[in-house]
Amino acid sequence: MRSKMSISLTLVFFAFLGCRTLVRCAYQDDPFYYDKFPDGFLWSTATSSYQIEGGWNSSEKGENIWDRFTHTCCHIEDNSTGDVACDSYNKIQDDVQLLKSLGVSHYRFSISWSRIMADGTNATIKSGGIDYYNRLINALKKANIEPMVTLYHWDLPQALQDIGGWENELLVGYFNEYARTCFKRFGDRVKLWLTFNEPFVVVWVGLGFGAHAPGISDRPGEAPYKAAHTIIKSHAEAWHTYDNEFRSTQKGRISITLDSDWKGPKDPNSADDKAASERAMQFKLGWFANPIFKNGDYPDVMKELIANKSAEEGRSTSRLPEFTESEKLRIKGTFDFFGLNHYTTQLITTQYRSDKKPNYGSDMDAKESQDPSWQRAGSSWLYVVPWGLRALLNWIKDNYGNPELYITENGVSDRNASLQDDHRVEFYRNYINNVLKAIKKDGCNVKGYTAWSLMDNFEWAAGYTEKFGLHYVDFSDPARPRKAKKSAEFYKQLIKDNGFNAPTSASAPTVGPRHRASSVLFMVVTLLVKFLM
Ligand SMILES: *[C@@H]1O[C@H](CO)[C@@H](O)[C@H](O)[C@H]1NC(C)=O
Ligand SMILES: *[C@@H]1O[C@H](CO)[C@@H](O)[C@H](O)[C@H]1NC(C)=O
Ligand SMILES: *[C@@H]1O[C@H](CO)[C@@H](O)[C@H](O)[C@H]1NC(C)=O
Ligand SMILES: *[C@@H]1O[C@H](CO)[C@@H](O)[C@H](O)[C@H]1NC(C)=O
Ligand SMILES: *[C@@H]1O[C@H](CO)[C@@H](O)[C@H](O)[C@H]1NC(C)=O
Repeated sequence: MRSKMSISLTLVFFAFLGCRTLVRCAYQDDPFYYDKFPDGFLWSTATSSYQIEGGWNSSEKGENIWDRFTHTCCHIEDNSTGDVACDSYNKIQDDVQLLKSLGVSHYRFSISWSRIMADGTNATIKSGGIDYYNRLINALKKANIEPMVTLYHWDLPQALQDIGGWENELLVGYFNEYARTCFKRFGDRVKLWLTFNEPFVVVWVGLGFGAHAPGISDRPGEAPYKAAHTIIKSHAEAWHTYDNEFRSTQKGRISITLDSDWKGPKDPNSADDKAASERAMQFKLGWFANPIFKNGDYPDVMKELIANKSAEEGRSTSRLPEFTESEKLRIKGTFDFFGLNHYTTQLITTQYRSDKKPNYGSDMDAKESQDPSWQRAGSSWLYVVPWGLRALLNWIKDNYGNPELYITENGVSDRNASLQDDHRVEFYRNYINNVLKAIKKDGCNVKGYTAWSLMDNFEWAAGYTEKFGLHYVDFSDPARPRKAKKSAEFYKQLIKDNGFNAPTSASAPTVGPRHRASSVLFMVVTLLVKFLM
């Protein structure tokens, strides 16, 4: 028995030779998996208000920080603005038609705060803005599409930025009032809410290095932490408002959407790289997820590292603010599910930096790089690494008790106008297949998937140069016509099949030699092990 056992183990060892670790091998070289998603799996696609609506000054809408940012030279790559964007403010029926054609069960969009409260407070509620969202929600319900609504997708009313924006804790109260207004006005029909979209990007890109509105970059070691603190409290208060005042009658669910890359160890056999990878994950996802999904507080490694650096800088307190004990209790557990946006992966090693200026980016003592073999996309930061999503889903499962999870964004950009977007078809096919593996093979509790985006739109600092759409939009035509790309047809079929049908032999997809070799080896080993045991 023992010798049989050791023979089997040796065989298994040799089967995995050539892969750098079991885990990496399992994810990276695991062959394509044909199966269905569980019944009731939610299929969705997404947009956000500033990126598609236009109508920037219609119906008494107030100015927001993206209006201000794009109207001030020269923050946007192509000097464009979201003044008109996809003109969705005037094209509800067109958008709903695209969604119907895709066959999605859900549509994730966001509400523009300054469209319904011009200066961000309930003193300036605008009926024109409320009407717009009522018409959109009603059109979706009529088409049998459930709305999933984000309250804050980056377009803060300018009047609130003028009093300090997210660095000012008064915003906790203003956000709560705004959220309450939305629950009151729309909650009879909206059953899925997200408070914030990607707070990491809000505080780091907007208030750390300033490539996004409001373009603040003078205190990258302080402003992001301070703003994140306000956002986490704002999320918690809005969750409690829903829980206390609306849940029993409206029976919906509410959470937050966090963005995370997979930050894996560069060398999976190096203990130091593994520690660096874990640090980087805690600084990125744990920053927001640890308080909300775990224990009401920031990750220990963040608290310790930033406190140490702050002391070295001669400060009497840490640059990372502290929650009081009662705040921790108020924040912990303020979720009904985990909302996740994911696009890409990096490889992490340790790097100690001694930037003159304290900086979130260097606080984590980590450096990221990419594997040269990874395919690139239209955005400089986006490398196509499908197995990274599966690794991330497993990390979330292991760190936060396998919460019910909705993927609220996933997609890929290009800079070409072709409707033949084969690279996007491949992206979706492979990323979604890794979601399926995470569910079926690893037991991750994923309940839904959202493709970003329904259509090409205003891609923030990249303007209209980077396109993420399932549908092409002609921005030179005042009518903003939409056209389905090949990826829209692919997504439609995938939704219809609720997964991947096994190929008939005639249409078997080509498998790379490495995949084929490892699957054959795997089969041989499995047979041998079975035979020997
Ligand atoms: C709205 O903005 C456009 C420019 O995008 C301008 O031409 C128009 O006059 C503005 N309308 C109002 C009501 O301010
Ligand atoms: C944007 O505007 C600035 C200032 O007018 C100009 O220098 C720059 O070339 C413009 N960029 C593009 C892509 O048009
Ligand atoms: C408006 O908001 C304030 C808090 O900012 C709140 O005290 C007040 O009750 C709200 N008024 C209405 C009519 O909802
Ligand atoms: C922080 O400083 C303390 C005291 O010098 C040290 O023991 C600890 O290892 C440091 N923590 C980190 C994460 O570097
Ligand atoms: C479009 O861009 C993508 C990503 O940058 C690239 O992979 C693809 O080959 C391009 N397609 C065409 C038709 O140019």
